[in-house]
Amino acid sequence: MLDKVPPSGIRKFFDLIASMDDVISLGVGEPDFATPWHITETAIRSLEQGLTMYTSNCGMLELRQEVAGHLKATYGVEYDPETEVLITNGVSEGVDLAMRAVIDPGDEILIPDPSYVAYPACVLFAGGQPVWVPTSCDSEFRLRPEDVGVRITERTKGLLMGYPSNPTGAVMELSDLAKIADVAERHDLVVISDEIYSLMVYGTEPNCFASLPGMRDRTIVLGGFSKAYAMTGWRIGYAAGDSRFIGAMTKIHQYTALCAPIMGQVAALEALRAGAEEAGKMLEEYDRRRRVVIKGFNEIGLNCFEPRGAFYAFPSIVSTGLTSEQFAERLLLEEKVAVVPGTAFGPSGEGHVRVCYATSISNIEEALKRITLFVKRCRSKKRARD
Ligand SMILES: Cc1ncc(COP(=O)(O)O)c(C=O)c1O
Repeated sequence: MLDKVPPSGIRKFFDLIASMDDVISLGVGEPDFATPWHITETAIRSLEQGLTMYTSNCGMLELRQEVAGHLKATYGVEYDPETEVLITNGVSEGVDLAMRAVIDPGDEILIPDPSYVAYPACVLFAGGQPVWVPTSCDSEFRLRPEDVGVRITERTKGLLMGYPSNPTGAVMELSDLAKIADVAERHDLVVISDEIYSLMVYGTEPNCFASLPGMRDRTIVLGGFSKAYAMTGWRIGYAAGDSRFIGAMTKIHQYTALCAPIMGQVAALEALRAGAEEAGKMLEEYDRRRRVVIKGFNEIGLNCFEPRGAFYAFPSIVSTGLTSEQFAERLLLEEKVAVVPGTAFGPSGEGHVRVCYATSISNIEEALKRITLFVKRCRSKKRARD
């Protein structure tokens, strides 16, 4: 089965970048900020006090209570911190545990195409079959209920989706999600909703799939700290859902991970209690960069719909006459700007590249200058060929 899983298309690219100098990277999906100092300091103090041991398998009860409080206060969804919340080693582990808990051999899991690279891999690792549901620029990469509906078979067990989306930056409004909820209800699907970017939205309100009527008990909500609080290295996330899911996930987690790192849990607790202001400042800065990126790509003639979540843009590169892979590889080699081919995230990513704007405005402006030159060259070569 491992043969069916190709190496991550993103990693291949990063290995190439690592071998070059002076590359401006719009590639890696990681905040360029350090973790806010009060969060780091709280963790340092806990280490000084000797908090270096295992925690409960499910994670520190205080943190689970704080997570449950956050979900209730933000989205009005209630979870019992004792049985319905699990602290994980990032959302990465949450996706893997959810797939292993939900999938019986041969079950099909629907996944929006394009999506985060780990989704199809984790479905395959769990013995399931990933089934792409194409999305496109025409509908701003939102998942459409009719596209989900036509792919349902008697083997369909669930839907694994992540909005705001990596790689497109697309958001699904509650009204869009309500239509997906109807399909889930009708076909008795489990919904695994990766909401790692839920707080990172621009000009729209954060939402949670489980808050929709009837969805709480059929949804596993995955949430995290890596992006909104700039805490990728702390390896902390959580899963919230009905105890039949969280119980099954905890069973796997207790044997394979034992628990999430205690220093990360202490840091996450501080982030939830007092991190909103710093997270808000980072979000404002991402929003400023987002506007520069969208304007820049549209001016170059690489059409870019307005992404309203996460820190990604997904411009179309079709006008250059290159495939996504060719565009990303040549741009890197010729102008030393790294972007990720859209196809790394699924076949519907063809014709696009993922641009991560978690980098300084000056880097973005320099990258846009280089991309302008590159695209001009591509277009004149294309004209000569045509
Ligand atoms: C959609 C999505 N889910 C999960 C992850 C992994 O998050 P974590 O650092 O919490 O494991 C990422 C990281 O890029 C992501 O983009």
